Amino acid sequence: MLNLFRFRRNRKRQTNLRPKARKRQHRFEKQHQPQNPRSCHPRGPLGNLVFKFELKRIPGQPELAIREVKSKKFKTREGLCVDDITNGKEKIRISAVNTINDENPPSFNYITKIMYPDWYRPVPPTGCDCVGRCSDKRCKCAAKNGGEIPYNHNGAIVEAKPLVYECGPACKCPPSCYNRVTQHGMKIQLEIFKTETRGWGVRSLNSISSGSFICEYVGELLEDTEAEKRTGNDEYLFDIGQNYSDMGTGTGVGMDTGTDGFTIDAANYGNVGRFINHSCSPNLYAQNVLYDQEDKRMPHIMLFAAENIPPLQELTYHYNYAVDTVHDSDGNIKVKKCFCGSTECTGRLY
Ligand SMILES: C[S@@+](CC[C@H](N)C(=O)[O-])C[C@H]1O[C@@H](n2cnc3c(N)ncnc32)[C@H](O)[C@@H]1O
Ligand SMILES: [Zn+2]
Ligand SMILES: [Zn+2]
Ligand SMILES: [Zn+2]
Repeated sequence: MLNLFRFRRNRKRQTNLRPKARKRQHRFEKQHQPQNPRSCHPRGPLGNLVFKFELKRIPGQPELAIREVKSKKFKTREGLCVDDITNGKEKIRISAVNTINDENPPSFNYITKIMYPDWYRPVPPTGCDCVGRCSDKRCKCAAKNGGEIPYNHNGAIVEAKPLVYECGPACKCPPSCYNRVTQHGMKIQLEIFKTETRGWGVRSLNSISSGSFICEYVGELLEDTEAEKRTGNDEYLFDIGQNYSDMGTGTGVGMDTGTDGFTIDAANYGNVGRFINHSCSPNLYAQNVLYDQEDKRMPHIMLFAAENIPPLQELTYHYNYAVDTVHDSDGNIKVKKCFCGSTECTGRLY
């Protein structure tokens, strides 16, 4: 497996900081240029002249607060160990922060789009004919959503649904159509951080309002039979294409298929979504979304905020495992304790 991370914690910090810090100090000296400077010009170790000035405070001049001297721009975050785990693949950098120990994040291949199996030929969805903007009444895509666009004009999802249809490549509406949200990718500045009890987790640097799109759960798309063979590394498997039994709307393949399920495996190939932990009182939820193909057996898994979330609060969703149904390769029931810390914690992930 390729290792995309290059952990150069100390070197990076030094090369970023040093020249800028020097420049700053120079400006500070100029601001405090004495009116009658006393100076001397001794020779340095290499024989060149070194200009030395004694700085004097102008009468009444206030002292500079340390935060004015140290610009925020140059402050490094405590525990910062990777500048960008995406290696430039996402539009927004995602840092890794570890204030618990000196471990770096595990290596995996960062991808931004689902990897479909070679045999898979996507069925292109039919589009709407809305030339200007899509609206609840006339748009064919809104009709697939039960006659309403599922997002408001700020891009927030209005309510959780079994399946959301966004406008897609065959629609005549522009990219700015408000029925296109998750397909434009992440907008929120996330970081991964080391937790005490749950490995790495994800949080946002800014506050998040309820209904905001967070990120997709991206990985390799596998048939369930293939996923079952990966029992040794099952921590990043996400069963997809479920919960449609109560849906009366929409068309396309994959409805009520029952047996041939699919799973997304983010163990080797994945995005930031692979780091989001489970909680028994989650603040996110997983929403099925279709836009670029119409096979309901393999919707995109899009994570949305289920409530207003303050900055730096861990982002979590409910994994929905059924206890006593996860087995190891010998058929023994696997038990995983939950450390979500919620007062409503049931004690077990599975
Ligand atoms: C999809 S990964 C989440 C990211 C993971 N923490 C990491 O460091 O890569 C799922 C795994 O994280 C751990 N995990 C997630 N939520 C947890 C929780 N509430 N309590 C204990 N472990 C948890 C479990 O090991 C689980 O199998
Ligand atoms: Zn549209
Ligand atoms: Zn459309
Ligand atoms: Zn719990």
